[in-house]
Amino acid sequence: MNSALRIWHPFSNSVLDPPPLRVTKAEGVFLHTADGRKIIDSISSWWVNLHGHANLRIASAIAEQARKLEHVILAGFTQDAAEELAVRLRKWVPQNLTHMFFSDDGSTAVEVALKLAAQHFQNLSRPEKREIVALEHAYHGDTAGAMSVSDDSPFTLPFQSMRYPVHRVHSAYCYRCPVGLKRETCHIECVQQLEQLLAERAGQIAAVIVEPLLQGAGGMVMHPVEFLQKVRALCTHHDVFLIADEVLTGFGRTGKMFACDVASVEPDLMCVSKGLTGGFMTMGVTLCSDRVESAYRSENRMHSFYHGHSYTGNALACAAANANLQIFEDEPVFDRIRSIAKIHGERLAQIRDFHQVGDTRQIGSIGALELRVEDPGYLSSLRPKLYNFFLERDVLLRPLGNVVYVLPSYVIDPEQLHRVYDVITEMLETVL
Ligand SMILES: Cc1ncc(COP(=O)(O)O)c(C=O)c1O
Repeated sequence: MNSALRIWHPFSNSVLDPPPLRVTKAEGVFLHTADGRKIIDSISSWWVNLHGHANLRIASAIAEQARKLEHVILAGFTQDAAEELAVRLRKWVPQNLTHMFFSDDGSTAVEVALKLAAQHFQNLSRPEKREIVALEHAYHGDTAGAMSVSDDSPFTLPFQSMRYPVHRVHSAYCYRCPVGLKRETCHIECVQQLEQLLAERAGQIAAVIVEPLLQGAGGMVMHPVEFLQKVRALCTHHDVFLIADEVLTGFGRTGKMFACDVASVEPDLMCVSKGLTGGFMTMGVTLCSDRVESAYRSENRMHSFYHGHSYTGNALACAAANANLQIFEDEPVFDRIRSIAKIHGERLAQIRDFHQVGDTRQIGSIGALELRVEDPGYLSSLRPKLYNFFLERDVLLRPLGNVVYVLPSYVIDPEQLHRVYDVITEMLETVL
């Protein structure tokens, strides 16, 4: 009998993929492996790490909290770390957002947003207003509701029967424009599909959910700000809630605290997770406006929101999030993001000239290139070759099929970031 269970690794194929590397410690942008390698984590360990691995300030805050109170049920109770987070987040989030609901991760933060929107209208005796609109190329997580609003992909196709129907409309994927236009001369005509849908069915639609400005797992698709602004205006006009899934884009990734800030847009509901705890603890938060919550202020118990997870509002995760936000207050985090953005800009401009590069994209701390291949998409045959090529050079990059992206922690120094781009350039010169 084996002495240990076999760990089933996520998004991995145990037959085709190399065995996982064992990481024994990490600091800054480096992952140290058991066999003595030092790998640059260029994707912030699935986009969560903000201020470097094993950041001392966050680590100490968790340790201190653990000695005081590790967790308490949040139904009927509250605690200081959660209350402190409510004060701290309020300073940063769009000002129309007045309430926050805790969950466990990005997927559950999305589930909460969808359910809050639907039950809002149910509580107001408008049960028919419950349909959801989502974008092409969307990715909102792996639980059933989050998969439903995500677009079809290898992640969702085996679960087709578990997904509920949603309306799917164009995203502003300018490189592969869904209406065949060029960004330089277009007027965001791709939004007309949503416009028409809302004109016809707004009475049945509760919410439109978007990843604001940046669709991550769908291929680092970046939208013009006007697209998000037009979606907001249409939702307002037709009395439909706008849900901003800021699970990836939140906490500085796009150059401002939230992508909605870049476009000066206020959503009705907003989901955050990933960077919320600086990459230390799992936690999701769904924020909403007073109007969304008002439908739950009722003497009818059936109007309560009967949703919660065992670890809702976990005090250790709250302590990590508080320390994370304190770092935003004390340290030049946005200067760091600006210097990352500058290097992305310079290096992507050089890379653009390679004929294999179809498109380069950049927003804030994230740079991406889309390669011309015969089989684009997540399962592109190029993907494992690229992944292994980068890893052999001690750089962790996880291409989304034929889209290579760099999404580092904010503490990456220029030399380290240039090293990542040098390896990408070597790949363009040798692999393709
Ligand atoms: C935009 C977006 N929403 C939701 C999720 C799901 O988050 P989690 O993996 O924490 O459940 C992700 C994860 O990548 C994401 O990028």
